[in-house]
Amino acid sequence: MNACMTLEQTCKMMVKKLGKIIPDVELRYKAELVVEINELKKEKNAVILGHNYMEPALFYTVPDFVGDSLELSRKAAETDKDIIVFCGVRFMAETAKILNPDKTVLLPSAKGGCSLAASITVDDVRMLKAKFPGVPIITYINTYADVKAEVDVCCTSGNAKAVVESFAEETVIFLPDEYLARNVAVETGKKIIFPSAVSTDSSSQKNQIIGWGGRCEVHEKFTTGDIADAREQFPDVVVLAHPECPPEVVEQSDYSGSTTAIVNYVKQSNAQRYLVLTECSMGDNIAAENPDREMVRICSIRCPHMNEITLEETRDSLKNIQYKIEVPEDIRLRAKKSVDRMLAIGSNVPSN
Ligand code: 13P
Ligand code: SF4
Repeated sequence: MNACMTLEQTCKMMVKKLGKIIPDVELRYKAELVVEINELKKEKNAVILGHNYMEPALFYTVPDFVGDSLELSRKAAETDKDIIVFCGVRFMAETAKILNPDKTVLLPSAKGGCSLAASITVDDVRMLKAKFPGVPIITYINTYADVKAEVDVCCTSGNAKAVVESFAEETVIFLPDEYLARNVAVETGKKIIFPSAVSTDSSSQKNQIIGWGGRCEVHEKFTTGDIADAREQFPDVVVLAHPECPPEVVEQSDYSGSTTAIVNYVKQSNAQRYLVLTECSMGDNIAAENPDREMVRICSIRCPHMNEITLEETRDSLKNIQYKIEVPEDIRLRAKKSVDRMLAIGSNVPSN
């Protein structure tokens, strides 16, 4: 939206876009916050990046750029503003800081965790390196900077297959999401193995993905039962699943891709009804953008970490310059190599 809009204009725009999703009284209050944030943004020469999981009243108003992890990493690498406010979770804001050491990077929440990022430590990675010397290590971007610093390259859900296929080696270590690793193994025709079950005898390490046991606490909840229920009630429903979902869920879906790939799928398809198996605010954002389509509300699971980022917290973040993301320089330099290598590799799907 235009950052110079008055309160009345902002209110009108929000009622038009979000009137079917958010009650009018709430929208009026939120519009006041939006105007305040946009003024602060201008005054402080800041850019706001918003992940696709932000709640609709935030998603459609204050970010200069919205997108999936890959797109936002690219935007973070390009910005010339003094301050980056990352409306997402900590690992995303850390990636922005890794790419912009001289800028102030703010996360509007003091926590902003992620169950995947919490599932692996530097010691775990070092243990794997010792167990599988010479095997390339790819880590999902949903990890903290110290883990990124230990590996060869990062990936996101939007380029995981391309990153795995960028290695000449047949066997790679893929951390920490068990389900993403299993889904990428299917896509790349590799066998999936987990460390406890793996022999370190290199002759048995042919064409494998060596995975880890991390899970997204949101996506692991989706089941094939959700799909069966939706298909029974709405035989024409198109099922779209994020690749952090269990492999049997992805297998029974019509399409799987990053959050932006799912958004684009709905934009480009003519189908009337969709079951979106990912964080539920994104379903609301797609519904707001496509009022003529129906989002089947069988699954409504909100990421508790993304939920910490509100308009109030975003306003306070700019007002009080909080919460500053810092990454020690030695870790940052090593982590940057992994992020830069990822950014140089194409994505699986075209971005907007
Ligand atoms: P995307 O990269 O697809 O936006 O996913 C990030 C994420 O955390 C999904 O749970
Ligand atoms: Fe992490 Fe899952 Fe939340 Fe994404 S949805 S930020 S993977 S906990």
